[in-house]
Amino acid sequence: MAFTAVWNYCVPLSVITLLSLVGTARCQAVQAENVTVLEGGTAQISCRLQNYDGSIVVIQNPRRQTLFFNGTRALKDDRFQMVLFTPRLVRITLTNVSVSDEGGYFCQLYTDDTHHQVATLSVSVPPDTPTVEVKQEAVEGGEVELTCLSPRSKPPATLRWIRDRREIPGVVSQQENGKTVSVSSTIRLPVERKDNGAAVSCEASHPALGGQKRVRHYRLDVHFAPTVRIIPPPGILREGDSLSLTCSITGNPLPRDVQWTRINDTLPERAEISGPTLQVSRLSQSHNGTYLCQAQNNYGRAADHYTLLVYDPGAVIETHSAVPYAVIGGVLALLVFTVICVLIVTVWCSVRQKGSYLTHEASGLDEHGEVQEAFLNGNDASQGKKEYLL
Ligand SMILES: *[C@@H]1O[C@H](CO)[C@@H](O)[C@H](O)[C@H]1NC(C)=O
Ligand SMILES: *[C@@H]1O[C@H](CO)[C@@H](O)[C@H](O)[C@H]1NC(C)=O
Ligand SMILES: *[C@@H]1O[C@H](CO)[C@@H](O)[C@H](O)[C@H]1NC(C)=O
Ligand SMILES: *[C@@H]1O[C@H](CO)[C@@H](O)[C@H](O)[C@H]1NC(C)=O
Ligand SMILES: *[C@@H]1O[C@H](CO)[C@@H](O)[C@H](O)[C@H]1NC(C)=O
Repeated sequence: MAFTAVWNYCVPLSVITLLSLVGTARCQAVQAENVTVLEGGTAQISCRLQNYDGSIVVIQNPRRQTLFFNGTRALKDDRFQMVLFTPRLVRITLTNVSVSDEGGYFCQLYTDDTHHQVATLSVSVPPDTPTVEVKQEAVEGGEVELTCLSPRSKPPATLRWIRDRREIPGVVSQQENGKTVSVSSTIRLPVERKDNGAAVSCEASHPALGGQKRVRHYRLDVHFAPTVRIIPPPGILREGDSLSLTCSITGNPLPRDVQWTRINDTLPERAEISGPTLQVSRLSQSHNGTYLCQAQNNYGRAADHYTLLVYDPGAVIETHSAVPYAVIGGVLALLVFTVICVLIVTVWCSVRQKGSYLTHEASGLDEHGEVQEAFLNGNDASQGKKEYLL
């Protein structure tokens, strides 16, 4: 990025200045080009000379310390280098630019301290990827408070919270730290169990990043009480079979220990517990009972039970599960049968109706007459009755 100060040499004597105004070439308008450089980048400072007569050229930093005295380094700072010195152009570079290098750089002829040029160097500090802080632990039914922090940028970065591609408005605050700004945006979200693991992100945008964004992804960590469910073994169990019960557990944090017990009894001697699974080999009827699986975390506890009935090896059992299937099967069969019947009746009726409609059409008038006749007859009959009654 070029940082150019167009330096102009005007002859100091007023008489000559007046003369030079006539011949405009000797004293021209001053121009300065300001430049913005990324922190850590390299700035190029160029001074344009006009009508250079071999005078000493002085370049000074914003604190008016002389950097170069006619091509000779004056300030001990290796980041500044003189890269060009011609009668038309003096150019220096500044590497590893920091915010403290900001300000006006002066370019002047030693013999004329009334005329100098200043070009302003601005340093832009793009934000790093922001961080997310959880100010309040999330528990289901409560709220989570998240703060997105971009500790250092210049000009201030813009922070946006995004969830499901929609922006969540946050409370933004800025704090100046010297020349850079610390920006934060805080949101509060109500959270339920289903929000556990949901993705939200905080995007930092900044002029120096162009259209790009620095994005921090965050997954909600919603704490909730456990749920437990025993997955029962299929079918019935007889003496000599082995039992395997698995307790399916949820919860955040996931309960580490599962407790297996038998209500009003001790666990069978042969019971083996490994994590969420209870196994009993060679079942006997003494193993009958209600088995309980329990789990807990800091947010609550939960339990599920399973009633074990061990049958004789030879027992013929009408299992409970078989009954609903038989009922469902029967209902289905009945339904299909009814549908078929209705279809047959409908088809039969429509065929028959079509036939009779045609017959009626042929004898339409006759029938109408018959009806009328019947009506009249009816009237006559009632009249007859009346007469009879009178
Ligand atoms: C350079 O920046 C200074 C200070 O910000 C300002 O006064 C001046 O007008 C700017 N010059 C140009 C050419 O933009
Ligand atoms: C300043 O430096 C320029 C370029 O090297 C040179 O031509 C000029 O003579 C120098 N002036 C003085 C006064 O040393
Ligand atoms: C650049 O400057 C910073 C301090 O402003 C320093 O910490 C860093 O080491 C420098 N980097 C190089 C490559 O000189
Ligand atoms: C456990 O024992 C108590 C008291 O003896 C009784 O009321 C309860 O029904 C029993 N529970 C089971 C599951 O057998
Ligand atoms: C165990 O349950 C089975 C099935 O209900 C029953 O036939 C048997 O008598 C029970 N045995 C004991 C010891 O309770």
